[in-house]
This record gives sequence, structure tokens and C-alpha cells, in this order.
Amino acid sequence: MESWGPMLRALLSGPGRRGGTRGWAFRSGQPHLPLAGLSSATELVNHWTGVFEKRGIPEARESSEYIVAHVLGAKTFQSLRPALRTQPLSPQQLQCIQELSSCRLQRMPVQYILGEWDFKGLSLKMAPPVFIPRPETEELVEWVLEEVVQRPRVEGAQDGPLILEVGCGSGAIALSLLSQLPESRVIAVDKGEAAISLTHENAQRLRLQDRIWMVPLDVTLEGSWTHLLPWGPVDLVVSNPPYVFHQDMEQLAPEIRSYEDVAALDGGEEGMDVIAHILALAPQLLKDSGNIFLEVDPRQPELVSRWLQSRPDLDLQLVAVRRDFCGRPRFLHIRRSGP
Ligand SMILES: C[S@@+](CC[C@H](N)C(=O)[O-])C[C@H]1O[C@@H](n2cnc3c(N)ncnc32)[C@H](O)[C@@H]1O
Repeated sequence: MESWGPMLRALLSGPGRRGGTRGWAFRSGQPHLPLAGLSSATELVNHWTGVFEKRGIPEARESSEYIVAHVLGAKTFQSLRPALRTQPLSPQQLQCIQELSSCRLQRMPVQYILGEWDFKGLSLKMAPPVFIPRPETEELVEWVLEEVVQRPRVEGAQDGPLILEVGCGSGAIALSLLSQLPESRVIAVDKGEAAISLTHENAQRLRLQDRIWMVPLDVTLEGSWTHLLPWGPVDLVVSNPPYVFHQDMEQLAPEIRSYEDVAALDGGEEGMDVIAHILALAPQLLKDSGNIFLEVDPRQPELVSRWLQSRPDLDLQLVAVRRDFCGRPRFLHIRRSGP
């Protein structure tokens, strides 16, 4: 969650088209920046890259390329036809680029400016303050998919796995699992109203709404898990919980601190506040031998392992730790013991 670099770079490639610009991203009364003599997409990208660099905006070129491409209806600058890069833009397009770039000067993340972002090939609507899905979370989803595919199917079972996601945010994890596992169903929980409604909207956009139930719920509240009992025991719990150590919150980039919900990030003193609640409630909701997959901070595999040893009553075992694309231990697989 610390840097935008890998996120932008990871998604920089791959052609495709986006819809038009999102009205909500515009701000009236932005300072007018001189554009005289600039008219082509390439010139605009160079101009705004220079402005962003001067003002210390991270990923200056990527940001300006995304904005210009978006206004021209493309996903990436690289995917624009060469002719579109050099022909003059309309006054409306120039104005649009100026307004979106002004948002970037206010350190608004590109994902919120564009109003949509890709996660595992799904185009999701993004809106502040709902957490923007990070590329490493795609690796968590991959691991869950591997596990589900390898799992021996229970004879006579009609349905695919029933999955509980704690902290669904925009719906990135839940919806990518649903799209890859056609027989699965997901219960998606979040304490944020904005997150629940964005997951709902994204489920509708992707026509996955019939296999997902959204439940507004704070898992740290006493007995909250009882609201989930009507769905029956689940096969798997997955979560990318708030796990940032409280003292690290100050060091997060302005893009994160100013625009994303603190509740999506701050995990308390050792980042374990919500993680501990998920682990404590999981045995009440999981089937025997059910699995938990978590994304965590690199310091937390050790903390979680010690925490589980202190709670043998939960019958949970840390079975594997995986590293992210930067080589840091970031993903946990925990299993509930069988009968
Ligand atoms: C790091 S974000 C992950 C969002 C999404 N799953 C993703 O990976 O992009 C954590 C999410 O957990 C939610 N959350 C935080 N505390 C919670 C709690 N006590 N109960 C339920 N959800 C919570 C936040 O609102 C936020 O949407």
C-alpha cells in the first residue's frame, strides 16, 4: 500500500478502450494553466508530464498518459492509434484534460480521476474514499483460485464453494473470484457504506449480482458474526484487511492519506486489530477443514503465527506463507482443523 509505482507500471500495458470521462471527477474553478500552442495528445502528455514533475507529482508521465488516453477514449496512451496521438484535440478535450490534470495536481490518485480501474481483467468503478485495489491483491486471488481448483469435489455436491470476503471495498476480490469460478457464491462484508454500495454497483456492471450478497457489517463488533449464520458454513474466508501499523500511517503517500478511507488501512498498533477478529470469528463460520486466505504486512506472518499459538481453542493452523512480486512475505493460508 506504500507506493503507486508498481500499480501504475503493472497496468500500463495492454490495449483496450474505456468509456467516456466521468462527470464527478471534474472541478469547476480550477486554475487555468497555459495551453497556448499545444494541440496534440503527444504535446499534451509532454506538457503535463513537465508540470507534474515540477510540482513533485509521482509517476508524472504515467499520470499524464493515463489522463490524455482516457479523454481520448482509450485505456492506455500506448494503445492509441498513431494518428490520434498527433492530430489536434478539440477545445472540449483540451478543457477536460486540464480539469483532470488539476485533480492530479491535488494529489488525487489516477484511479479516482479516471473513475475506473482494472483488476484481474475486470473493469471496476472507483470512487473515493473506497480503497483502490492494489496489484499484489491479484496474487492473493490467484492463490485462492489455485486452492479451489485443486480441492477435491464432494461427491453429489451441486454448488461451487461458498466464500466469505471480509472487507470487500470496491468488490475487486469477490467479483474476480465470482467471474473465474462460475459455480461459486460470495458473501461480501464491509463496515463502510460506500464500499458496500460500490461493490453492489460493480456487481451489477459485471452482471455478477445474482451470486453475491453484500452485508454491511463491522466484524470487530461483539457477536457480529451471528448475522452471517443464515448463509450456512462457508468453504473459504478471504480478506485483504486493514493491516497498516498505526505508526506507519503518517508515512503513507498524500494520495493515500488524503483520499482513501483510513478505516481501510489502519490496522492498529501492530496492524492486527481486524486480522485478530477475522481469525476469531472464522471457526464459527467455516466448514471443517475450511480455508482462510489473508493479505498482510511482511511483519505479520510472524505475528499471526504467534497469535494462533496463543489461541489453540480456535483450531486454526498456518499452513503456508507466500511472497509477493517484490519477494516480501505477504499472503497467508490458514486452515481449520478437520473433525
Ligand atoms: C484494504 S481494504 C480492501 C478492499 C478490497 N478487498 C481490496 O482488496 O481492494 C479493507 C476493507 O476492509 C473494510 N473494513 C475495515 N474494517 C472493517 C471491519 N471492522 N469490518 C468490516 N470491514 C472492515 C474497509 O472498509 C475496506 O473496504
